Formats: sequence, structure tokens, C-alpha cells
Amino acid sequence: RSSLLKSTSELLRRSRRGYASSANPERKVAILGAAGGIGQPLSLLMKLNPLVSSLSLYDIAGTPGVAADVSHINSPALVKGFMGDDQLGEALEGSDVVIIPAGVPRKPGMTRDDLFNINAGIVKALCTAIAKHCPNALVNMISNPVNSTVPIAAEVFKKAGTYDEKKLFGVTTLDVVRAKTFYAGKAGVPVTDVNVPVVGGHAGITILPLFSQATPASNSLSQQDIEALTKRTQDGGTEVVEAKAGKGSATLSMAYAGAVFADACLKGLNGVPDIVECSFVQSTVTELPFFASKVRLGKNGVEEVLGLGELSDFEKKGLENLKGELKSSIEKGVKFAHGN
Ligand code: NAD
Ligand code: LMR
Repeated sequence: RSSLLKSTSELLRRSRRGYASSANPERKVAILGAAGGIGQPLSLLMKLNPLVSSLSLYDIAGTPGVAADVSHINSPALVKGFMGDDQLGEALEGSDVVIIPAGVPRKPGMTRDDLFNINAGIVKALCTAIAKHCPNALVNMISNPVNSTVPIAAEVFKKAGTYDEKKLFGVTTLDVVRAKTFYAGKAGVPVTDVNVPVVGGHAGITILPLFSQATPASNSLSQQDIEALTKRTQDGGTEVVEAKAGKGSATLSMAYAGAVFADACLKGLNGVPDIVECSFVQSTVTELPFFASKVRLGKNGVEEVLGLGELSDFEKKGLENLKGELKSSIEKGVKFAHGN
């Protein structure tokens, strides 16, 4: 009788909420840094995602207001706000996906690496809490410098004994979003049809868009056009930082990109086949321990790290040129995690 009661109440709960099923089980998403420039629109977009049943919004300040606001939207996800260290554990408990846009953004004249001193410590503390409270969650790292914060997270998880390389992702989706937009504009093809892989890392020349593999293919682009598109993609973040003139970096396009990537992670977890996105992950694609490339997502996170495919001579040169900087950014993160 008690099992009948249990299944009836489960059915009632599902029909009230109206979406959970065996194909789409309940999923909790936590956003750390949810009251920030990225965090707020990302919270909005994740509230709109039908795959999310519980949305946990954490920040050091401001989350009660953001959570109250977003929670009034008539979509299924139940929203809760959490503020300050004391509430971090509860915010994380039971999370399937944790998205981290916490930390300071660039101002004009700064590199992403200039954010290291502040953001490395923030990421380290948040990842220590993830290891404790939701060690099986997929972690989507947005905080810069991504080329170093992902290795920091890996080292924190290794130290805690919870590291699973399939579950840690540096979010490089904004590079792909930009490459698609700029390519479509120049090639004169519908932007919604465009696909462009972007590999390497997420800073300056470490961002390597592979326009030779862009689809739909275009024969109207000269080598000069390709080089200009590559530079614009690499400098896309700086273009926004300069346009915002001291008021931060990309927030709205980043929230969109973060929502696209988190949605792909959720679909992978739910067993949707053929979910492929570029991401900065532990990798053997090159000699570097972390590298962004196309990744197939599945029920355990990374199902397969895909290779680079055929590169043009220009892209081969770009790949060799980026390795030194990417290697030292990775090493800087590892060293920080060990030293503190
Ligand atoms: P922001 O300053 O507007 O927001 C950051 C938020 O983080 C703030 O609300 C702040 O209170 C919060 N925060 C600070 N310390 C925290 C902690 N210990 N725990 C939880 N929250 C904390 O900055 P933003 O514009 O949202 O950018 C956030 C980060 O994302 C920056 O590091 C930025 O460089 C990075 N970023 C990455 C990409 C990418 O493509 N990966 C794109 C854009 C921005
Ligand atoms: C971006 O690419 O927009 C982000 O990494 C933010 C930045 O500092 O450029």
C-alpha cells in the first residue's frame, strides 16, 4: 500500500510540475555567481529551460532578489536563492550541473590572465565546496582565465579524490557563437545554418577557429578574409570589453553561450544522442593536458573527445603558435592549486 501511495504521489507531483519523465528526469542546476552580469541573464535562460527542474542561484550578495524575480516566471523549474558561505553547501547539494560565472571581469587594457590573482582563489574555494557537496556534478567553468581555472578545478578535485575528467568543462561556447556569427556575415550564409569548430583555449591566440571546416562551405572567402575572421574571433572578448568602456565584459552573449552549453550537458545526461559541442577539457588531442575541441556529451559527461580533423596550413601554424601560451597558463593553474 505504501508503495502505491508513493507512486501516486510521484505521479501527482509530476503532473503538477508537468515535465518529468523517464526520458527527462528531474535535474538540478546550480549557478555560482548568479547575481552578476552573466549570472542574472543566465539564471533567466536556465529558468526557461524545460530540462531544468530545480534551479539554485548562489552568490556572495544579491541572490534573494534575483531568485525572487526569476522565480515568478511561469516555467517548471523551482528557483531558490542562496547567499554567502553558510548557504553554499545547500545550494550545491544534489546538483547535476554546476555553472560557474563567479569572479571579476576585465576592464580595457587587461588580459584575461590579469584576472588570475582574484579569480583563482574564488574558483578554488567554489570547487572545494563542489567536491564536498556534489562531487558527481558536471562543472561548467566560465570564470576567467579559463585556460588556468579549469586546471585549478581539476587539481582541487584530484586532491579531494573526486576528479572525473569526464565531468569538467571549460566553457568556450562563446568563441563558437562568435565564429558562427562573423563567418555567416562575411560568407553571406544564413547564420542559423552555420557550424564552425573552435579549438585550443579561451584567450587571444589560444582561440583557434577552424574556418576551413566551416559549414556551409564558402568559396567566396579569400585567405585575407579568413585571417581577418580568425583575428576578430580571437579578439571578440576584447571588442566587447572596449565597447563597454570599463563596465565589464561580455555578459548577454556569454549568458546565451552558457545556456547553450548547459543545455547540451543536460541533453547528454538525459541520453539524447549525438550532442557535440566544443569545450576545453582534459585531452590527448595534442601533447597539452587540456585542450578545447569538439566533445561528444553523454550520460556521464564527456563521452568522446573528438580529434581536430584536417587543418589548413594557416590553422596548423596557429595551432603550433598557441601551444606555448596555453601550456604556461595550464601550468600556472596547476601550480596555484598546489601552492595554496
Ligand atoms: P560580474 O562582476 O558582473 O559578476 C560576477 C559575480 O560573481 C558577482 O555577482 C560577484 O558577487 C560574484 N562572486 C564573486 N566572488 C564570488 C564567490 N566567491 N562565490 C560566488 N560568487 C562570487 O562579472 P561577469 O561579467 O558576470 O563575469 C564573470 C566572470 O566570467 C569573469 O571572470 C569573466 O572574465 C568571465 N567570462 C568568461 C567568459 C567565457 O567565455 N568563458 C565570457 C565572459 C566572461
Ligand atoms: C569573452 O571572451 O568575452 C570573455 O572571456 C570575457 C573577456 O574578458 O573577454
